[in-house]
Amino acid sequence: MEVSEILLTILESVVFIVKSLYFVLEAIVLKFVPVSYRAKDVSGETVLVTGAGSGLGRLMSIRFAKLGCRLVLWDINKAGLDETANAVKQHGAISYTYVCDLSSRDDIYTAADKVKQEVGSVDILVNNAGIVTGKKFLDCPDSLIQKTMEVNTSAHFWTCKAFLPAMLDKNHGHIVNVASSAGLVGVNGLADYCASKFAAVGFDESLRYEFIAQGKTGVHTTVVCPYYINTGMFTGVKTKFPRILPIVEPEDAVDRIMNAVLVNQHIVMIPGILYLFMALKGLIPTKAGLLFAEHFGINNCMDDFTGRQKQE
Ligand SMILES: NC(=O)c1ccc[n+]([C@@H]2O[C@H](COP(=O)([O-])OP(=O)(O)OC[C@H]3O[C@@H](n4cnc5c(N)ncnc54)[C@H](O)[C@@H]3O)[C@@H](O)[C@H]2O)c1
Repeated sequence: MEVSEILLTILESVVFIVKSLYFVLEAIVLKFVPVSYRAKDVSGETVLVTGAGSGLGRLMSIRFAKLGCRLVLWDINKAGLDETANAVKQHGAISYTYVCDLSSRDDIYTAADKVKQEVGSVDILVNNAGIVTGKKFLDCPDSLIQKTMEVNTSAHFWTCKAFLPAMLDKNHGHIVNVASSAGLVGVNGLADYCASKFAAVGFDESLRYEFIAQGKTGVHTTVVCPYYINTGMFTGVKTKFPRILPIVEPEDAVDRIMNAVLVNQHIVMIPGILYLFMALKGLIPTKAGLLFAEHFGINNCMDDFTGRQKQE
């Protein structure tokens, strides 16, 4: 190696270390700056929310409506969509509803074409619709495993294929992928769900790197990784230490999601203690990780799961 090459390598390493330290410091300082000072203005933007017919999808739609956005609401459940559209209207926002089965690529492309014709381009795409089987892997019917992957993962591909090109052309947009903490750790009783959510997390992160590599710094992604939320989707699940790892109230989850989107945060884990758990996951041996999951009751939190189907 020539002296000049050695000097260049040293210089690059120093720049790398200084920049890394700068980003760490920046993140610490920003923690103390209220979101209201850093939030971007989304008024007048068009926001498409999938799974808008209930739960987080409905609450996020209402929040975007309050911020002066136009809403495009997708769901398979027409009655739920109408209810969300009414709620959005009460906040003075216009909404366009589309019944769309997100497990069908054809349905997604058909609905996307209608949106482009009737509404125009989308600025913020929220891939939120999700389903859960909640059975041990070998008890899961093939059809449900397939559907879980289609709704929780593949649908993100097709919605992005439909709406991302316009965002990239304008170098302006935001993709929000609602995944789960089950996209960061495996959970007993959620094998197909975890697989679908790990995929959603990987998709989000890779897309972000793709945008950066293309210089599209105006197109953002946020991946949302919550623990259980009290929306009804996971009815029956238990938490052993509710003070440390609570089942989150939907409004609290949506507060965190909206704040993250408005400051272009890349990943949001809810509740915040999950950041510590994830750091530990990378540090401790897997056997200690298993002990940890047992201690916190994560390994049998699904034992009394009923979910939505059995309530109805
Ligand atoms: N509730 C939780 O504990 C929890 C935890 C982590 C992540 N999440 C994720 O948050 C997202 C929202 O969940 P939620 O708690 O609001 O659940 P939810 O059941 O209240 O809402 C999901 C919505 O998706 C719609 N949907 C389901 N299948 C569809 C399909 N094939 N086509 C179109 N729409 C379809 C449903 O009709 C429903 O309106 C999901 O992706 C879920 O996986 C939820």
